[in-house]
Amino acid sequence: VERVLGPNDMVGQKVLVTAGGTREAIDAVRVVTNRSSGKQGYALAAEAAHRGAHVTLVTTVDRPVPPGVAEVVAVASAADMQEAVVPRAADQDVIIMAAAVADFRPATVADRKIKKGEGLDAIELAPTHDFLVDLGATKPHGQVLVGFAAETDDVVDNARDKLARKNLDLIVANDVASEGAGFEHDTNAVVILTPDGVGQTVPLTDKRTVARAVLDAVVERQGRTTA
Ligand code: CTP
Ligand code: CA
Repeated sequence: VERVLGPNDMVGQKVLVTAGGTREAIDAVRVVTNRSSGKQGYALAAEAAHRGAHVTLVTTVDRPVPPGVAEVVAVASAADMQEAVVPRAADQDVIIMAAAVADFRPATVADRKIKKGEGLDAIELAPTHDFLVDLGATKPHGQVLVGFAAETDDVVDNARDKLARKNLDLIVANDVASEGAGFEHDTNAVVILTPDGVGQTVPLTDKRTVARAVLDAVVERQGRTTA
């Protein structure tokens, strides 16, 4: 019913959204993670489904599945997420990487629980693979690839740099240090940047409204590339 009432401007499109912070194992019970709640990713999945898209949601968090979402893939680590996203990528009209993917993981993982008596003075970290770079390098013609940039300093400059470096079509820059925005909030404030240098500011609002602005920018981009 909701879908019938939606704008229908994404009917027939396949949209993949990632959501949440990845969890990188230390041992059988402990993980390293980040403050991402997954709410912005879920709002994007909900809005894309509402507009008639066939939505795949790849998620690290267990939240209610938004109405109309076609497929949910549960993952934990950055490597799991890569394994879920990369084989599905070539098929998608739109990929939105809203997930906060860990940059580092524990270099070794104990397959049992480390007891406190054994001591754990330091955790050696190893870099994860940035698969958004791969998605940008192998992007099919016409696909719209959207990244997120969570920043605390030089928000727009850092985001522009990521957009170029990862060959993205849009980047959603998020000042996670500003009041009421980003991690662990129901609200967000973003700047949506395009490769031509145009930036659209979305002032502090609910995450569904941010999702609407991001998908409006996606549809506008598609209009431009097919025209
Ligand atoms: N990303 C990814 N794989 C990683 C790290 C990030 O796919 N291993 C994606 C995120 O999902 C996001 C985008 O890349 O859409 C930007 O992530 P961000 O953490 O802001 O950028 P980094 O390039 O990791 O730079 P830094 O954390 O140093 O700011
Ligand atoms: Ca990062």
